[in-house]
Amino acid sequence: MSYPVYQPSLTGNEKKYVNECLDTSWISSKGHFVNDFEKSFADFIGVKHASSVCNGTVAIHLAASALGLGQDDEIICPSFTYIASANPFVQLGCKIVFCDSLADSWQMDPYDAERKITPKTKALMVVHLYGHPADMDAFVALAKKYHLFLIEDCAEAIGSQYKGKRVGSFGDIACFSFFGNKTITCGEGGMVLCNNDDLFERVNHLKAQGVVSWREYWHDVIAYNYRMTNIQAAIGLAQLEQVDKFMTAKRQIADWYMEELKSTPLVFHKPHGDVFHTFWMISALAKSKEDRASLRAALKQAGIETRPTFPCIHQMPAYNKQFECFSVAEDLSSRGINLPSYPALTHDDVKSICKVIKEYYGK
Ligand SMILES: Cc1ncc(COP(=O)(O)O)c(C=O)c1O
Repeated sequence: MSYPVYQPSLTGNEKKYVNECLDTSWISSKGHFVNDFEKSFADFIGVKHASSVCNGTVAIHLAASALGLGQDDEIICPSFTYIASANPFVQLGCKIVFCDSLADSWQMDPYDAERKITPKTKALMVVHLYGHPADMDAFVALAKKYHLFLIEDCAEAIGSQYKGKRVGSFGDIACFSFFGNKTITCGEGGMVLCNNDDLFERVNHLKAQGVVSWREYWHDVIAYNYRMTNIQAAIGLAQLEQVDKFMTAKRQIADWYMEELKSTPLVFHKPHGDVFHTFWMISALAKSKEDRASLRAALKQAGIETRPTFPCIHQMPAYNKQFECFSVAEDLSSRGINLPSYPALTHDDVKSICKVIKEYYGK
């Protein structure tokens, strides 16, 4: 028995579309799959524009650059998230101001966010962590009240909904990742979404070396090459065709785990409020940091791969310049475990994994 924590399912049109790229020699960043993927993804999320990029980290860097964020601008961001939610802002000279998380949803705490707003604050970086939407009523209201940009990091929440609307459609700009462990994947890939026409033009301009439309090889800004290839987009489009199937599978797998493990002390990351949770990972809290370590060791021994939840960013060497304590975020980060949760897992697979967990807890 051996279960990886995640593996993508590539059983749709992926091979057919990639072969079309190879057969027609459209393998670079031009080609119809790029446009088709962008258009279909924008429609899926419910946003006017989508611009594809080569990964989710540069999607955030590009979004922040297009908004004009830079030196000394303060960005409010949860500490309990993946490192790429914060790094691109720092690379632009911004200052990250961290916030605590909420114990029930695991998302950024809007009350703490409001407390951190100063005259230098320019943007709220709202992350929809582990497939669960953040409290978008609160963050939309904060952005409006204090005239801040609202940026959504939807890397882990493709298809998740808050009050019936997909995440990525609430803010000024939204960023997605299509890394191999994401709900849909291109291998590596990302997308920047927005409704504003001017902002979209800036995103596309900066993503492609800042070349002007009226003169060849003439660049009016210092920009980037962040383009996605037609091959990546071919895989992405084939994956997007199956997104409903993947989301249904993930939610079903979550139900199986929760049912099987209800007699154990594990506390699952359940939906909280009027949300559609897509369970990027099947995440749960063990009793303590020590309990998590020994549970992970027992699962590893049985051939079952797991992941810890993310360490808090404010504790990492590049960020811990001053003492800060975020008790909820630190607790979620120290006790959380992610269990295998890929679409091909069957009910019997989940039962086998749960058997090891139940034995570990003596249930
Ligand atoms: C919350 C979050 N933001 C950003 C990223 C960055 O995406 P990528 O790995 O595609 O650069 C990831 C994923 O890896 C993520 O989980």
